Amino acid sequence: MAKRQLQLTLAILKPDVTSRPHIVQEIRNMILENNFYFIRSQNLQMSQHQIRTFYKEHEGKFFHNRLVNFMSSGRIWTHILAKENAIKDWRNLMGPTKVFKTVHDEPDSIRGRFGLTDTRNCTHGSDSEETARREIKLFFPDFNEESWRQLDEQFYI
Ligand code: PPS
Repeated sequence: MAKRQLQLTLAILKPDVTSRPHIVQEIRNMILENNFYFIRSQNLQMSQHQIRTFYKEHEGKFFHNRLVNFMSSGRIWTHILAKENAIKDWRNLMGPTKVFKTVHDEPDSIRGRFGLTDTRNCTHGSDSEETARREIKLFFPDFNEESWRQLDEQFYI
């Protein structure tokens, strides 16, 4: 039988969430109830430079400045989450970006429950394994996936 392997993703709880601590708790409960593992966690305030690097692919879009200003407006939580299909499952749990549509179509998702606008939409999740590796490196430069798999992954599977 093939060995089970956990997939890693980067999750962010954005400033609209961290300014509402009871929602941080609700979202953490949703993460645990959906069988994700928290591998690393960090609370920080990003600089505008870090945010511009993080959202480089959205440079030039009409919302880019709004997104950068919002993400630098307060503290955030970043988490490395693990689960078998972590990337897809975390994005499903977040719900779609557009909050107006999400509230109607996916009311039980994080954005459906707590999202306020397309900017203040609670959470971020990596969209592919390549992006996850890049985003994890950016926030957790000391995290070594290979040694984590050798030493720690066995405790979760
Ligand atoms: S796109 O254009 O389809 O690639 O954009 P999308 O994937 O939907 O969203 C990319 C990130 O931009 C944020 N976003 C916005 N911010 C501010 N204003 C508006 N109108 C807006 N639309 C999208 C969206 O929340 C995504 O951020 P992350 O952190 O990746 O979820």
